[in-house]
Amino acid sequence: FGDQPLRGRRVVVSAGPTYEDIDPVRFIGNRSSGRMGFAVAGAARDAGADVTLVAGPVALPTPPGVRRVDVRSARQMHEAVLSAARGADIYIGAAAVGDYRPSETSEHKLKKASGAPLHLELTENPDIIASLAAADGRPFLVGFAAETRELASYAGEKLRRKGIDMIAANEVGGGKGFEVADNALHLYWPGGDESLPEMPKTDLARQLVARIAERFLSGSGT
Ligand code: C5P
Repeated sequence: FGDQPLRGRRVVVSAGPTYEDIDPVRFIGNRSSGRMGFAVAGAARDAGADVTLVAGPVALPTPPGVRRVDVRSARQMHEAVLSAARGADIYIGAAAVGDYRPSETSEHKLKKASGAPLHLELTENPDIIASLAAADGRPFLVGFAAETRELASYAGEKLRRKGIDMIAANEVGGGKGFEVADNALHLYWPGGDESLPEMPKTDLARQLVARIAERFLSGSGT
């Protein structure tokens, strides 16, 4: 395939956390730094792709030559990804999308009610990659799975349940995965798997994109 197996292909990558507002000063978020997804976007560009990066709130520079769309909440990310993924060849969901949001966002700052517990009701967010999987003419879909245990069984289950083409699983917690420069991934696809050992996220992103290109091209008949 040469150095640029994705030349002429359109790739959409999501990255970073989502923030779900409770009130004007508080939110529910998570510890995703966006580094893995930004590295994947840069690696896909180097592989020749036309790349759109849908980024949650992160403090990272845009990889040169990549189109970036900034969003905050899971619902905004859902909308931005669906629109960017129309006609795209590959979607790589590296974002840590919040599973839940507060059912209501208060217009004013919530006040402390001395001593009494505060109840926050949460509503489930849409599953972005699963909704892409359900669409006709969908892109090749790659999901991430960050787990603290039982990587293989959760990843296999996720591949089937979400109806996607590949899962890149990594172990998080205990200094692994989030907010660190190195990472290791285990890739699963229907009928196979491969382990990519611990290395800097930029190197890992290159290897991941090469594997995605192989699987994508073997399925698309080109
Ligand atoms: O189910 P879980 O959150 O572990 O799955 C992770 C994968 O699913 C990631 O690729 C993530 O971007 C995607 N996801 C999504 N929409 C959600 C939750 C997760 O696209 N609401």
